[in-house]
Amino acid sequence: MDKITIFDTTLRDGEQAAGGTLNVQEKLEIAKQLEKLGVDVIEGGFPISSPGDFEAVSLIAKEVRQPIICALSHANTAAIDRAAEAVKKATHPRIHVFLSASDVHLVYQLKKSRQEILEMACKMVAYAKKYVNDIEFSPMDASRTDPDYIYQIVEEVIKCGATTVNIPDTVGYAIPSEFGDLIEGIFKNVSNIGKTIISVHCHNDLGLAVANSLEAIKRGVRQVECTINGIGERAGNASLEEIVMSIKTRNDIFKNMTTSINSTEIYKASRLVSELTGFIVQPNKAIVGANAFRHESGIHQDGVLKMARTYEIMDPRTVGIPASNLVLGKLSGRHAFKERLAELGYVLDETAFQRAFTTFIALADKKREVTDKDIESLVAEDKRTIADAYHLDRVQVTCGDRGIPTAAVRLIAPDGKTVSDAAIGTGPVDAVCEAIDKLVKIPDIKLTEFTVKSVTEGIDAIGEVLIRVESKGITYTGRGADTDIIVASAKAYVNALNRVITAEKTRK
Ligand code: KIV
Ligand code: ZN
Repeated sequence: MDKITIFDTTLRDGEQAAGGTLNVQEKLEIAKQLEKLGVDVIEGGFPISSPGDFEAVSLIAKEVRQPIICALSHANTAAIDRAAEAVKKATHPRIHVFLSASDVHLVYQLKKSRQEILEMACKMVAYAKKYVNDIEFSPMDASRTDPDYIYQIVEEVIKCGATTVNIPDTVGYAIPSEFGDLIEGIFKNVSNIGKTIISVHCHNDLGLAVANSLEAIKRGVRQVECTINGIGERAGNASLEEIVMSIKTRNDIFKNMTTSINSTEIYKASRLVSELTGFIVQPNKAIVGANAFRHESGIHQDGVLKMARTYEIMDPRTVGIPASNLVLGKLSGRHAFKERLAELGYVLDETAFQRAFTTFIALADKKREVTDKDIESLVAEDKRTIADAYHLDRVQVTCGDRGIPTAAVRLIAPDGKTVSDAAIGTGPVDAVCEAIDKLVKIPDIKLTEFTVKSVTEGIDAIGEVLIRVESKGITYTGRGADTDIIVASAKAYVNALNRVITAEKTRK
């Protein structure tokens, strides 16, 4: 079999998506799930870019032992030193050096000649090689670069020690046939091509990232760079789940090709990344969207009931979507709840299980049927709040078309003491946030986004609130869930402020 290396950059390019900031612990949690998923390479971050990124890559390198742990680096010695330091504890360390290659970048951004760039690329690959053997080089904006110059760069960086050369479609400009031709050209025109792995890294500005990656595989590429849910800079990167499931489902086209991915871990990885980044997965998203395996029209339902293959090209269980439609209620005991958690892939210690069970019983009291999505939501809510510095203790609002929206809030502060205050606002949520602001005093905090969605159908559904706030030019996301959306909003706002506080501490 011909192995396609899966290089996951959710924690680097994925996190570069506006508003998707993750803290160090969240990055580690995702990295552990990526390891379970079976990715070959985890690009943990860009160590020179911030102390938080450095810390995250170092921690992942120490704790995630199976995959290659990669750190991104500018083509300069300071950035390479920092990347090398961050991956030094990894079982399999890699440094990924990138440098712009297209004329538009050279002329307007770097103000350097092609020859200077070629020399810099080579020198920096050789410099990084002092630290680790596994060096990846990316000529940035390759798809808009003169192909002859790309051949030259690839040839030279291989001579200088690059073990993987990655061809990025940085601005998502390429069309599959054209991108495939560039890849084929590289294989035909680079004399030492056999000494390296050729990789691609496609962005989704024209919605073609996956198509371009698959075309590149057909033309000989053996590493693809991708992210969970396709998150990433601007319109995102090629989606890992779409690439992997295309190779698997269409093995008549991708003959003898395989990946090391355990596809049954895909759904969990998708939910985790969505939960921690705050990026909601669109319902019609291929493979992991809520509607990806739902059949609405009568004729489709009829077909699927008779034989799933009539309208289903993949079995939802192969991507880890829970098969059962079983619902739990208030009479379901601890045993049934524990079994359901296990089927959904949650292994909780006794204390966490007890907390989850208590929340489940309270929820079952309010809601007739507790579904898998409710359970996922309550486990996520518990994980979120347990790590928080401030906790919501009570919230009460008065509002209506005649009243002045007023909120009273009580929080448990990091020292364990309760603090309370009240405020008025333009509406109940605004009043709640104003009251919380009086208690958690973060100067110049700005709420930039507020979204409510229900976890399941029905008037008694859990409402999930997503709030984004901005502090010192950085966006933070908070989430909260409850059957009462005002309570969910208060939890989400407290969660967002807690993230600001944690990030500020890391920076100090
Ligand atoms: O899109 C891009 O070119 C990148 C490089 C750093 C590989 O993300
Ligand atoms: Zn990129």
